[in-house]
Amino acid sequence: MNPVLQAEQLTKTYLSTDPPTQVLGGVDLAVTPGEFLAVMGASGSGKSTLLYCISGMDRPTSGRVSIEGTDLTALDDNAMARLRLTSMGFVFQQAFFLGNLSIRDNILLPALKATPKAQAEAVVRVDALMERFGIAHVGSHGITEVSGGQLQRASICRALAAEPTIVFADEPTGALNSAMTTEVMGALTEVHRGGSTLVMVTHAPDCAARADRVIYLRDGEVVDSLSLGTWTADDAEAREIAMLEWLRTNGF
Ligand SMILES: Nc1ncnc2c1ncn2[C@@H]1O[C@H](COP(=O)(O)OP(=O)(O)OP(=O)(O)O)[C@@H](O)[C@H]1O
Ligand SMILES: [Mg+2]
Repeated sequence: MNPVLQAEQLTKTYLSTDPPTQVLGGVDLAVTPGEFLAVMGASGSGKSTLLYCISGMDRPTSGRVSIEGTDLTALDDNAMARLRLTSMGFVFQQAFFLGNLSIRDNILLPALKATPKAQAEAVVRVDALMERFGIAHVGSHGITEVSGGQLQRASICRALAAEPTIVFADEPTGALNSAMTTEVMGALTEVHRGGSTLVMVTHAPDCAARADRVIYLRDGEVVDSLSLGTWTADDAEAREIAMLEWLRTNGF
C-alpha cells in the first residue's frame, strides 16, 4: 500500500539561535492509509517540530515530505496553505477558535473556505459531524460557553469538516482533565475507526496506547517504534502495560 505521508531524511535546524539548533536529525517516516500513528518522546525531543514539518506548517531545512504523492517541499506558500485547507485537519492543545463566532460557525468556516463551490454540502457535513461527536446541542454557544472536552470535540469536527486526507494532532488532550481526556480520545478513536489517517503527538501513554503504532523520538531522531494493532476496549489495559514497558526501555 502506498503511504499517505512519506518523509525522507527530514532535518530541521533553527538558525535564529547561536549556535544553530539542530532539532531534527534525518527522520524517515511513512504513514499508511487509515493508520493511527502516535509520536512520543521527552519534552524538547522535536515532536512538534516534526509534526509542523510533515504538515506543511513549517519547512524542513532539508529532506522531502510528500502527502498522497504531492511533494510539500516544492510548493509555494499559497499552494501549501491551499493543500492544508483541503487535505489536512489539525487539532491542537488549544482550539484556536474565534471568540466572536459560535461553535458551529467556527467549525464551518474553514470547510466553507476549502470548498467554496459546495457550501450546502459543507453545512450538511458539519451538522452530521456535530451530531456524531455529541456537540450539536451546543452549536449556537459561544466558545466560552462549552466544556474543555466539548471544545476539543468541536476542534475534531473542524479538522474533519473538509474531509481531509490526514489529521494531525499535537497534544490534543494536553490541557484536559482525565474525564475530558477519555472523552476526546474516544472521539479520536472514532475518527480512526471512520477510516481517517491520524498522526498524534502526545505525552500520555494511555492516549498513545490507542494508536496502531507508536514511534519514539530522541534528540530529533526516531529511535524506536512499537506496533500495537487496532485498539479495542477489551485489550486497553494490556496495551497500556506494553506501552509503559516500551517507554521504560526508552528512558521515558
Ligand atoms: N523557533 C524555534 N527557534 C529555536 N529553537 C526552537 C524553535 N522551536 C523549537 N525550538 C527548539 O527545538 C527543540 C524541539 O522543540 P519541539 O517543540 O519540537 O519539542 P517537543 O518534543 O514538541 O517538546 P514538548 O513535549 O515540550 O512540546 C527544543 O529544544 C526547542 O527549544
Ligand atoms: Mg511539542
